[in-house]
Amino acid sequence: MSPGRSLLLGVDVSTTATKALLVDDRGAVVGVASASYELSTPRPLWAEQDPELWWKATRDSIAEVIASTGVDHRAVEAIGLTGQMHGLVLLDESGSVLRPAILWNDQRAAAQCDEIRERFGLEELVRITGNDAFPGFTAPKLLWVRDHEPEIYRRVRQVLLPKDYIRFRLTGEHATDRAGAGGTLLLDLATRDWSRELLEALKIPAEWLPPTHEGTAITGRLSSGAAELTGLTLGTPVVGGAGDQAAQAVGVGAVVPGVVALTLGTSGVVFAACERPLSEPAGRLHAFPHALPDTWHVMGVMLSAGGSLRWHRDTLAPGVEYDSLFGEAKRVEPGSEGLFFLPYLSGERTPHADPFARGAFVGLTLKHDRPHLTRAVLEGVAFGLRDNLALMRKVGLDSVGQVRISGGGARSPVWRRILANVLGIDLVSVETSEGAALGAALLAGVGGGFWPSVEAACAAAVRLGKTTRTDPNSAAAYDPIYRRFREHYPAMQPLFRAG
Ligand code: XUL
Repeated sequence: MSPGRSLLLGVDVSTTATKALLVDDRGAVVGVASASYELSTPRPLWAEQDPELWWKATRDSIAEVIASTGVDHRAVEAIGLTGQMHGLVLLDESGSVLRPAILWNDQRAAAQCDEIRERFGLEELVRITGNDAFPGFTAPKLLWVRDHEPEIYRRVRQVLLPKDYIRFRLTGEHATDRAGAGGTLLLDLATRDWSRELLEALKIPAEWLPPTHEGTAITGRLSSGAAELTGLTLGTPVVGGAGDQAAQAVGVGAVVPGVVALTLGTSGVVFAACERPLSEPAGRLHAFPHALPDTWHVMGVMLSAGGSLRWHRDTLAPGVEYDSLFGEAKRVEPGSEGLFFLPYLSGERTPHADPFARGAFVGLTLKHDRPHLTRAVLEGVAFGLRDNLALMRKVGLDSVGQVRISGGGARSPVWRRILANVLGIDLVSVETSEGAALGAALLAGVGGGFWPSVEAACAAAVRLGKTTRTDPNSAAAYDPIYRRFREHYPAMQPLFRAG
């Protein structure tokens, strides 16, 4: 790095690790480091983390990225935060954490979702927030604490999201970004601020919630304590940032209508920016503000995308390299000779909004062997993503100009080809392994005055890679197979619910 060049730091407080990424003022990634932690499951379907783990990992990953790149820590001129969405962090009067954070993938709050839906009616809830109530969202989990831990609830003075707890440790300020706030189920989607109506009806004191900011707005500055602990400069601005999905979209340049981001990680996400708040009438798509002003987004979330493949590998092919599995799957014809996989291993959010949905292989015969099972898993995930894209088109997103694909699963040419054919659309790979942290750093760059807009930051930083083209014959062959896939979930839904 040439001396004197300014740096921007993106910090991603994810579910498995906190990552620190440095980008320079030309948009080039200078380095990335991560510090991992565990998730605790005190009971089945619960998922918790001690916020102190995030704070330690934040300090460690920042120290590591500075040390490994050899940059001058004083060159870091702005910080952007991102992280796992929806997590519930509760603080008491003194700013101490009251209980472990309840995470986005925790399913304990189903009864509280019913309560919220009954109180408002689904239509009204979607009108205000853009969303249905999901157990992983913040508000139902807060009501769960009210119902099951009243002695803790009485002591609550501040409710924060995971990355906003790190913001609090870095700056001493309570603040959140609007993209992340959308995932609480307490935000008015149109005004991009807390819904008085919801807060009053649910008897949640408005003063428990931090002020909301746009992703590029400066929300506070590095405190002397945090400057000492991180080695960064006192007073460095910290911008709003965004929830991980909106930040990932910034990191791949999905910031204007027409560019769709498809992320194939543990979950599978289809994300599209829009110029006005759009929502799906039944709330099956998530509808949140985007990380840039006057922009919203809709998104479909499949809970087990790459997660389905990992399960398949760990259970049916332990120790086998993913590349060998992809190689086997490549030799099987589209449709896996009549074998289907339903990828609902953790229940599903989109399109079925059904915590009781379960995974299944359907159509097994003696003919099928492991390569068929592998291909069926890859295809089942691709069919699920097609369901998501179809739902987005239904709410008016018919101008899908370009689909940008990223995430661990997107590295496989075999899976990309299956996806391009199942979706019937070309896929442009984006060369980033830490899109969310990059997105947060770019938001910091805009807030810090390095780029005039998020679009300009993306133009400087986002590196597009190969295009995986649809083969018209294979795409046509997949249409009837996809239609068969669509019949399985409704047929099995009553069985799933019966357990
Ligand atoms: C988005 C969601 C996940 C989490 C964890 O709605 O639940 O993306 O943010 O990554």
